[in-house]
Amino acid sequence: MFIMLLGAPGVGKGTQSKLIMGKCQIPQISTGDILRAEIKNETDLGTQVKSILERGELVSDDFMLKIVAKRLKQADCVNGFILDGFPRTIPQADGLGGILESIGNVKLNVVEISVPDDEIIKRLTSRRVCSQCGTLYNILVNPPMEGNACSVCGGQVFQRDDDKSETIKNRLQIYRKSTAPLIQYYKQRGDYGEVNGLKPVDSVFDEIMEILGGC
Ligand code: AP5
Repeated sequence: MFIMLLGAPGVGKGTQSKLIMGKCQIPQISTGDILRAEIKNETDLGTQVKSILERGELVSDDFMLKIVAKRLKQADCVNGFILDGFPRTIPQADGLGGILESIGNVKLNVVEISVPDDEIIKRLTSRRVCSQCGTLYNILVNPPMEGNACSVCGGQVFQRDDDKSETIKNRLQIYRKSTAPLIQYYKQRGDYGEVNGLKPVDSVFDEIMEILGGC
C-alpha cells in the first residue's frame, strides 16, 4: 500500500503515519523528520537547512526530490510507504510522479486530513517531542513526566523551534499558498479521500483505514 497523508501543519499526519506504520508494517517517510535528523547530526545538509526550518519556510524542491528519490529506492519501501509532509509543492508532486513510475508505476492512495487553523495553533504551541524516540506529547492533555523526561525511553522532551506561534502562522500561510493547490491536483487523479482531523486520534485512524480499505 502506497499512501500519502496530505494536510496543513499540525493536522495529525505524523500521529496517523505512526499508527498506519504499526498496523500495515510499511515505513513512514517524514521529510520533516529526515531534515531534523540531519540538523541534529550537524551534517552539511543539516547546516544548510537549519535556518529554513526555524523560519517555517520550505526547503527547495530540487533538494527535497533528491532526498525522497533516494529514500524511496531503499529495500524497506518495496511493499509500500506512507509519505508524511511530501510533496508540498506542485513541482514536488510532478517529480514524485516520475519517481513512482521509475520504481514500478505504483498507485498512490492520498488521504487529506483537515483541521481548522485555531485548533492547529493550539495543538502546535502545546506539542512537545522526545529528542530520542520521537514520542509526541501535548502539555495540555498528555504532558511528559516531571523534568521533561519521556515516559517511553527517558529521553529529553523539547519544543520544536518551528512550534512558536509566529512561525506556526508563517507555516500556515505557506501551506495555503504552496501546498493546498495539491488538493485539486490529487483529487483529479483519483484514489483521494478526506478525513475530519478534529475527531479523536483513534476515530481518525479508523476512518483512514476505511478509506484505504485496509492494509
Ligand atoms: P514537518 O515535520 O513535515 O512539519 P509539518 O507538516 O508542519 O507537520 P507537523 O509535524 O507540524 O504536524 P503533523 O500534521 O505531523 O501533526 P502531528 O501528528 O505532529 O516539516 C517541518 C519543516 O521541514 C517544514 O516547515 C519545512 O521547513 C521542512 N520540510 C519538510 N518537508 C518538506 C518538503 N517536502 N519540502 C520543503 N520543505 C519541507 O500532531 C500535532 C499535534 O496534535 C501533536 O501534539 C499531536 O499529539 C496532536 N494531535 C494529533 N492528532 C490529534 C487529534 N486527532 N486530536 C487531538 N490532538 C491531536
